[in-house]
Amino acid sequence: MTDLAETTATTGTDTGALTVAVIGAGGKMGMRVSNNLDTSAFTVRYAENSPAGQERVRAAGREVVDSATAVDGADVVVLAVPDVVLGAVSQDLVPRMKGGSILLTLDPAAAYAGLLASREGVAQAVAHPCHPSVFLERRTDAEYADTFGGIAAPQEVVAALEVDDEQVRTVAEQVITTIYAPVIQVHWVSVKQLAVLEPTLVETIACMVGALLKEALDETVNTVGVPAEAARAMLWGHVGIALTNALRGSNPFSEACHIAMDYGRGSIVKDDWKKIFRDDELDTVIARMLRIDAVRR
Ligand SMILES: NC(=O)c1ccc[n+]([C@@H]2O[C@H](COP(=O)([O-])OP(=O)(O)OC[C@H]3O[C@@H](n4cnc5c(N)ncnc54)[C@H](O)[C@@H]3O)[C@@H](O)[C@H]2O)c1
Repeated sequence: MTDLAETTATTGTDTGALTVAVIGAGGKMGMRVSNNLDTSAFTVRYAENSPAGQERVRAAGREVVDSATAVDGADVVVLAVPDVVLGAVSQDLVPRMKGGSILLTLDPAAAYAGLLASREGVAQAVAHPCHPSVFLERRTDAEYADTFGGIAAPQEVVAALEVDDEQVRTVAEQVITTIYAPVIQVHWVSVKQLAVLEPTLVETIACMVGALLKEALDETVNTVGVPAEAARAMLWGHVGIALTNALRGSNPFSEACHIAMDYGRGSIVKDDWKKIFRDDELDTVIARMLRIDAVRR
């Protein structure tokens, strides 16, 4: 980590000395992180291989360079490409990265599955945005409008290093707090813990429950015939109270509500649902997401 040590020692908090490459700069995350990097003090290079993506990068006023040029001499390389190509893209780019640099991915699946090319002297980091909390006290129109995070609403981030190293963490955190700004805090965990958070906790469970709520709303309106506005108003308000009661204990659920909740759990939730937290189940879902036969850990 000699180069990084020098970068940290000579720059301190002077992030302007860092060079950051964004690969996949015209994609959904690529555009988001680029918008924030663009206004930072970093030197930033943008690479994107699809014509439509290149057009989006140029329309935002940014120059597109090829990936090899972007990566050459960069301190941090952000891979904002689809997870299914992270293995191939890292195999192409990691050998071109300078010693002491950091490969930063935005989702733990490929790192967890052992798909990323590794090389002595190139550190691997993963950082996933938490998105603004459902309980965030938003104060401005811009904060209300920023549902995803990274624009105006403050959010937290969970990050991991393949091999823990304080200097790598310091440099990575400078980039992470920039790409996902405004950031309240970066929580450092292991790659496996990050993989349990995403997909298991937030996609397998939370996003699935969100989609189930939408299906339930459609059923209420289309099958039972309740007016859509009434059903939506009732559901959206009750989702708020259900979350604050269950997650923060804001109010007790009523006795009758507990009876209905028990009926719902018995009718909908399988007894063995917590198996999704087992290692073999995590490996299965991640292999499925990455379209590979098995994870390599
Ligand atoms: N979309 C989200 O909400 C979200 C949230 C958090 C993390 N992530 C992670 O961010 C990463 C990117 O996801 P996305 O949803 O932005 O994908 P995307 O498909 O929207 O964008 C990927 C971009 O990479 C480009 N690309 C593909 N191969 C390339 C290559 N070899 N060289 C240069 N560019 C290349 C594509 O043309 C595309 O523009 C993934 O790791 C994903 O898991 C996504």
